[in-house]
Amino acid sequence: MTLFNRSSRSQTSQRTASRTASHSVKSTKDEIDGQSITAYQLGKSDRVWQNGYGTTSDGNDTNRQNKPTRKLTKNAKQLIIYFSRSGSTELLASKIAKASHADLLEIVVKAPYSGNYRKTLSRANSEREAENYPELDMQMPDLSQYQTVYLGYPIWAMTLSHPMTEFLTTYGSRLTGKQIAPFMTEGGYGQGDSVDRIKSILKNQGARDNQYTKSLVVDGNKVEQADSRVTSWVKQIVERQ
Ligand SMILES: Cc1cc2nc3c(=O)[nH]c(=O)nc-3n(C[C@H](O)[C@H](O)[C@H](O)COP(=O)(O)O)c2cc1C
Repeated sequence: MTLFNRSSRSQTSQRTASRTASHSVKSTKDEIDGQSITAYQLGKSDRVWQNGYGTTSDGNDTNRQNKPTRKLTKNAKQLIIYFSRSGSTELLASKIAKASHADLLEIVVKAPYSGNYRKTLSRANSEREAENYPELDMQMPDLSQYQTVYLGYPIWAMTLSHPMTEFLTTYGSRLTGKQIAPFMTEGGYGQGDSVDRIKSILKNQGARDNQYTKSLVVDGNKVEQADSRVTSWVKQIVERQ
């Protein structure tokens, strides 16, 4: 899979991509559990965005200014579990939370991904080749109250990004019996095999009786325009519950 490796891309255009990215940090008006969201791809035209190639981040998987999101209430029947490096998936998670009143849990890794895109890409490639996914740094709550679990992630190399792979591998069996609602942001190439991977990891981890909803796939630079898609997607899910 050569997508997003782009080794043939010229040095000049790589420099242009990262220079552009560093000027495009966008603080949104949206909040996630009372904390502001900064997303690095928003507002970029497709030409400048280049399918997410070169996107920088805060170097701490959205948590340089924030605490990892963890909103767990007594009565919610829905939980959003997500990972985001550069903020788009976090923004999408916040919109889903608004529409669904679901609880929220952010996936946190011990060693966050670099703010530098090329370093992140190189680390992600090595992790994938070695099937050596990042160690998590989070406390897992009891999931028994939840009927629906939304799983949110950025697409990396046309599949699940590694923190979600590690999360499902570690905690997958706890999702037994849940309705699973996958959502993701990506660089314009679609969901790849990510949903099939969720299904196969959960099966391998012994999770049983899962129902899957249609997935929600949003371009990383267009999450601010996704409100009506989010609302109708969430409505269908709540009705199925
Ligand atoms: C290491 C890496 C690999 C990526 N691979 C793909 C890919 O194969 N296909 C795609 O459409 N987007 C790819 N992207 C783009 C991201 O999916 C996109 O920028 C996403 O919106 C990032 O979400 P986040 O802001 O929540 O981290 C990749 C990004 C990174 C950092």
